[in-house]
Amino acid sequence: MERKALYAGSFDPVTNGHLNIIERAAKMYDSLTVAIAVNPQKTGFFTVEERAEILREVTKHIPNVEIDCFEGLSADYVNKHGFTAYVRGLRAVNDFENELQMAQMNALLFKGGTETALLMTDPKNSFISSSLIKEVASLGGDVDDLVPPYVVERIREKLSK
Ligand code: COA
Repeated sequence: MERKALYAGSFDPVTNGHLNIIERAAKMYDSLTVAIAVNPQKTGFFTVEERAEILREVTKHIPNVEIDCFEGLSADYVNKHGFTAYVRGLRAVNDFENELQMAQMNALLFKGGTETALLMTDPKNSFISSSLIKEVASLGGDVDDLVPPYVVERIREKLSK
């Protein structure tokens, strides 16, 4: 049986923390789908298309990763595609409570026995969040060590517009 995993998030933008989870999860499963959860009520810093394009660029070295996007419940997307695992990154203890709640809710919603798989974030990435990156970069701070170089380029390009 093919072991397919899903890693979902806003990825606005993808950070080194996300990329580390993607690289590790891709080694654990036959294929990994990284999917942008689209919230039609929210306008992001990057559009969904831009986020997908950035994700494709920064994951192009990982052959078993594909990029997609979906609207609505992540459990519906999981059930539609029959993923074996739903991967989440756990940064610090305060992530745990939310993740536990979400995993327990999803356990009721997943139809085919999909398991939530929590991967511990590398400690060097534990303070990173996409919002923090956007705030620091928009105020002129250096985020070069926190996101892939291509993301730095795309943030600069966006801010200059
Ligand atoms: N390293 C560094 N930062 C990380 C990280 C990691 N390993 N993992 C997550 N983060 C950051 C993200 O950048 C994000 O930062 P931000 O809030 O500043 O943007 C933050 O942690 C939260 O990330 P995440 O938990 O992945 O949330 P999300 O908003 O990106 O996406 C979904 C969460 C995909 C679960 C949610 O949007 C979703 O599924 N929506 C559909 C509705 C649904 O099914 N809800 C759940 C019902 S049980």
